[in-house]
Amino acid sequence: MDKWAKVRAEFNQDPAYSNFTGFLLTPHPRRVREAIAAHRDALDRNPALVLEQQLALSMTGKDSFDSAPRTAAARFLAAQPNDFALTDSTTMGLGLVYAGFRIGAGKEVLATVHDHFSTHEALRLRAARDGVKGRKITLYAQPARVSTDEIVGNLTREIAPDTRVVAATWVHSSTGVKLPIRAMADVIAAANRKRAADDRIWFVVDGVHGFGIENVTMSDLGCDVFVAGCHKWLFGPRGTGLVWAHRDAWDQLTPTIPAFEGPPYMAWIENKAPVGPFGIMHTPGGFHSFEHRWALPAAFAFQSEIGRAEIQARVHELNSRLKQGLREISRVRLHTPVDPKLSSGITCFEVQGVSNEDVVKRLLERKIIASVSPYAVAYARLSPGLLNTPQQVDEALAAVAAL
Ligand SMILES: Cc1ncc(COP(=O)(O)O)c(C=O)c1O
Repeated sequence: MDKWAKVRAEFNQDPAYSNFTGFLLTPHPRRVREAIAAHRDALDRNPALVLEQQLALSMTGKDSFDSAPRTAAARFLAAQPNDFALTDSTTMGLGLVYAGFRIGAGKEVLATVHDHFSTHEALRLRAARDGVKGRKITLYAQPARVSTDEIVGNLTREIAPDTRVVAATWVHSSTGVKLPIRAMADVIAAANRKRAADDRIWFVVDGVHGFGIENVTMSDLGCDVFVAGCHKWLFGPRGTGLVWAHRDAWDQLTPTIPAFEGPPYMAWIENKAPVGPFGIMHTPGGFHSFEHRWALPAAFAFQSEIGRAEIQARVHELNSRLKQGLREISRVRLHTPVDPKLSSGITCFEVQGVSNEDVVKRLLERKIIASVSPYAVAYARLSPGLLNTPQQVDEALAAVAAL
């Protein structure tokens, strides 16, 4: 069995289908299923004792099931464990970040028209709450022809004196475009050099569709806040996510939901002001589906064992194969850039004379699961990843050609 067949054998997917929507909600690989089952069984046997044991460990700052996901994320992204808050999803992370960012009167959040509902809605809710202005800019005119220069040029032009936060999305689920986050961070850093420290611009990224594909660390990316769900490309437990922020950026955020781990809870009992690591203070509290959260390290281990560079190469190879093939079908208009520097695991296209919904419906008749991007301007999407084979890509191409 080749390496990728072994990887696919870790999943319990229905073999009758080719699933090209791994970016939506992941199936759990074996080791994640086993980790969830182990934690669930322990909680079922004795929930109070398991919780008390974990609480005691977190009170004393020792390793616990709660600290393990932060440690694993930190190793994966070359960052500090205590700079990770744990969430249930990308949406929860974005909601907390945009609700809690300290933004003075008259200052704006500069978002983009390419962002997902979760960013736009979090900003709309923030505006409704206290009037923080949001502005949406267009970073590129035609996704298939996008260039780093176009994106960087538009961002540079649109940053205004009132801009306090730049909100962007690493890989657009609308078009498949992958933004050059480092180059954008450099534009923001250049603007910040002309600003006073308390007037600096912060760069917040919804990173969910690059996380688990692109082999980069937090310092490679260069953003100030990184928000992602772990239940898509990372193959983490469903209902897990994280927010990472640079130390200085955490200082700009006020938590919204009380944290529930040792330090803040202890401070409350002792009637003291809560102090604790940022990642803990910003992790929404209350009891959780702990078996899922505690199983998150298994997903990082799954990825690291396969090899991050190999995962990146494989996902890009499958998407390049798909894009080359789509370009050869005369009725197909490919909207995702061919260049792997500006694209990742999502490939968007249209078929002349066939609605996107019909493309998906007719592929499904052939047991090929595709999707329509849920945006005002929508495309058909196929997202080959570790769940897929080159043969499945070829079959999907043949099915699109036959439409
Ligand atoms: C760019 C982007 N951000 C956020 C989300 C929402 O992710 P989650 O389900 O983790 O909240 C999605 C799609 O599900 C998305 O495409």
